[in-house]
Amino acid sequence: MNYEKFLELMSEGGFFYPSFEIYRGKAEVGGFYDYGPLGVELKRNIIEKWRRVFIYPYQDFIVEIETPIIMPKIVFEASGHLEHFTDAIVECTRCGRKYRADHLIEEELGKRGISIKTEGLGLDELNGLIRKYGIKCPVCGGELGEVKAFNLLFQTTIGPYSENIGYLRPETAQGMFVSFPKVFNLMGRKLPLGIAQVGKVGRNEISPRQGLIRLREFTQMEIEFFFDPENPRCPYLDELDVKLRIVPEKDVAAGIKEPREFRPREAVESGVVPNEWMAFFMGLATIYMNELGIPLDHQYFLAKLPQERAHYAAASFDQMVYSERFGWVEVSGHAYRTDYDLSRHMKYSGYDLTVERRLSTPKEVVEVRVYPNPQRIRDAFASEAPRVMQAISKADPRWLVNELNSKGVVVVDGYSITRDMVFIKEEKRKVFVERFIPHDVEPSFGVDRIIYVTLEHAYTEIDGKPVLRLPPDIAPIKVAVLPIIKKDEYVSIGKRIFREFSRAGVKAVYDDDGTIGSRYARYDALGVPFAVTIDDKTPIDNTVTIRDRDTKAQVRVSINNVVAIIIDAVLRKLTINEIARSMGLQLISRG
Ligand code: GLY
Repeated sequence: MNYEKFLELMSEGGFFYPSFEIYRGKAEVGGFYDYGPLGVELKRNIIEKWRRVFIYPYQDFIVEIETPIIMPKIVFEASGHLEHFTDAIVECTRCGRKYRADHLIEEELGKRGISIKTEGLGLDELNGLIRKYGIKCPVCGGELGEVKAFNLLFQTTIGPYSENIGYLRPETAQGMFVSFPKVFNLMGRKLPLGIAQVGKVGRNEISPRQGLIRLREFTQMEIEFFFDPENPRCPYLDELDVKLRIVPEKDVAAGIKEPREFRPREAVESGVVPNEWMAFFMGLATIYMNELGIPLDHQYFLAKLPQERAHYAAASFDQMVYSERFGWVEVSGHAYRTDYDLSRHMKYSGYDLTVERRLSTPKEVVEVRVYPNPQRIRDAFASEAPRVMQAISKADPRWLVNELNSKGVVVVDGYSITRDMVFIKEEKRKVFVERFIPHDVEPSFGVDRIIYVTLEHAYTEIDGKPVLRLPPDIAPIKVAVLPIIKKDEYVSIGKRIFREFSRAGVKAVYDDDGTIGSRYARYDALGVPFAVTIDDKTPIDNTVTIRDRDTKAQVRVSINNVVAIIIDAVLRKLTINEIARSMGLQLISRG
């Protein structure tokens, strides 16, 4: 692929280009990209297709929500991001330039023909590699300092008080965990429950390069899928007509790079994927990428070793897609987050995030109960007492007792409660239900990377001219309306047809400027799957031709049908040959 020519098309065609162009050289602008008019349409279509694969068919138990992108500090204390969401950074002691240590080591050793995988290495190990190989600042040759941890969260303050620290979310996921009890109630208190979100996130990358592949602000499409770990069955697993290509954890550990093929159920039964829902989403992810134009042999799942996994994951796989420019690129992550996040939020918020499971045979249990001591609470809180008592009743009793036992005081809804303000009782009960924290699997997609690999796969050159073979359902513009020459009669018919497409909500373009050949080439390059051409026959018999971007074949149809035919072709992914066959029409072959 001619990457320069590809990038030029992306920029000139209005797909994507670096942000803040007018301030380049005056401000830090790396890692930010704009989408132009066609990029926005493409992005919208790629997101909508994700919904069609992951949400709409399962609408009875997967729902989409939207939560804030700025979240208070406590959320990320609970989630572990404040502690763990770091990259290793190293600074040149001479010029002060800062580098992401693992990338620097791989690049510098790569130049010497040494291939080293740094993922999952600790600060000491990275430091050791820098000293062992005598790696210096690649710009000034200066000595590098100690490798340190750099937290990737963008920090801000919420409101005017500097102590109210907030962060731009680094994943949409925390919004789903924090609002789990609300959505669980809204959806009828049933498991399994998938909560999806599409939205912007931010990561303060140390030195982003690689265009859309590593951004400081990007869009995710995530599902937090909650299920009962004692009932982990996915009834849809065997419906998936797809094989998963996986490099399992033990192959990764043994240095094997070649993926193996598994049917989704087989992947679970052989212990390669830890549960059915995870295998199900990996199957959908394969189908989704395939429908975006990524062939099966250009994608696989790579298991992450324990030291390579995010802090919340008991198992995880990266869905890798081949890029001619960047090699294998992670486009989605599939993590088994267990009850990690809900347990942590339960601990930090004091809010009960457990759900109920009906038991087939009742159990006798000893339950801890915490009751307010009204007298002591009135003494301490006067008119606030009813609120305090309500807050105590709502809080998780085990948490209250733990806090009181360990600290002697617990803060509930802003009220400091001491041991003398409550009665703690242990009560024996026969129970028909028990409470547990749901487990979670998470398929998490990076939209911008998906846009990039989709565009790269669609890009080709025919006789030196670029063509974007985007699948019609995601192509930003579906149809170009082109009078064959700029003749008044053709122009007015063309404009009328363009209006009809516009009124029907079909993204179209009208163009009568230049030769028909140059216009076909222009719209082939922008990925427009169909061109409707007004020619000498049109005024006579009220027909136009539809030309197919990929085969160049044409079919002649009545003007009255052209909008419906294009809509049908886009929705049902029909080629011009299939349209012709289904309507009993002859193909015309004309440039
Ligand atoms: N939610 C997973 C991630 O953002 O990496």
